[in-house]
Amino acid sequence: MGITIDISGLAKSYGDLPVLRGCSFTFQANQTYAILGVNGAGKSTLLRILALLENPDTGEVSYLEGGRPHRKNQELKRKITLVLPQVGVFNTTVFQNVTYGLKIRGLHKRDYKVRVERLLDLVGLTEKREQKAMTLSSGQIRRLGLARAMVIEPEVLLLDEPTASLDPGNTKIIETAIRDLRDQRKTSIIMSTHDFTQARQLADSILAVEQGQIMEWSGAPFSGALLSSPGLGEGEAGLGSPMKKGER
Ligand SMILES: Nc1ncnc2c1ncn2[C@@H]1O[C@H](COP(=O)(O)OP(=O)(O)O)[C@@H](O)[C@H]1O
Ligand SMILES: [Mg+2]
Repeated sequence: MGITIDISGLAKSYGDLPVLRGCSFTFQANQTYAILGVNGAGKSTLLRILALLENPDTGEVSYLEGGRPHRKNQELKRKITLVLPQVGVFNTTVFQNVTYGLKIRGLHKRDYKVRVERLLDLVGLTEKREQKAMTLSSGQIRRLGLARAMVIEPEVLLLDEPTASLDPGNTKIIETAIRDLRDQRKTSIIMSTHDFTQARQLADSILAVEQGQIMEWSGAPFSGALLSSPGLGEGEAGLGSPMKKGER
């Protein structure tokens, strides 16, 4: 069925720093979105709000399942997973790390063994399954973090810069795993990234957070300036106008 996330007039400030100022957008169920934006644009803030870890100052976030609003309860929180760039691991094996979320949900090993093995293979950690997670390289830990999130089959997967500061080999593995999940069309994926090529390859829609607003990329040539320099003039990056509610 999938979860559609509708945000409307979302605003968030920290002290007197306005970060998000009236963001409105509908993230359709089972679609993949990439969010671009300079450092400090508010991408992580938006992801934390979508993950129900933080409240907006004003505005609404609605989670619709089968067209009906879902209550913001523990059950909904369990359907949403946010993966941060800094992955914390438990001091146990790779396999135990990946299966932890399944065990606390009361699943038996026979029910998830195949799923876990497929995921370990997807992120290239099959050979490391009995290794202590704390002894993995940083790239392997990031792959473990993604596998651990994907294994619980969340309905909404939020990825905060999943490949930032990774080498090309690790980046490719993570991208392949995200693509695999996207192609199954059973998860709403929203990822922030600095890599426009990656956004084009993985996402159904490309968005940008700029000056506290969400814009949708119009498909016009992209200058790339959005990724490196703040204060970009409007339209220069081929971005459309801020999304208004009900516009899609
Ligand atoms: N908890 C917080 N307290 C104070 N300021 C914050 C907090 N979280 C984020 N910020 C500030 O909000 C702005 C947006 O941050 P962030 O959402 O992390 O941007 P991005 O992920 O696009 O780089 C930054 O200036 C950041 O320092
Ligand atoms: Mg961030």
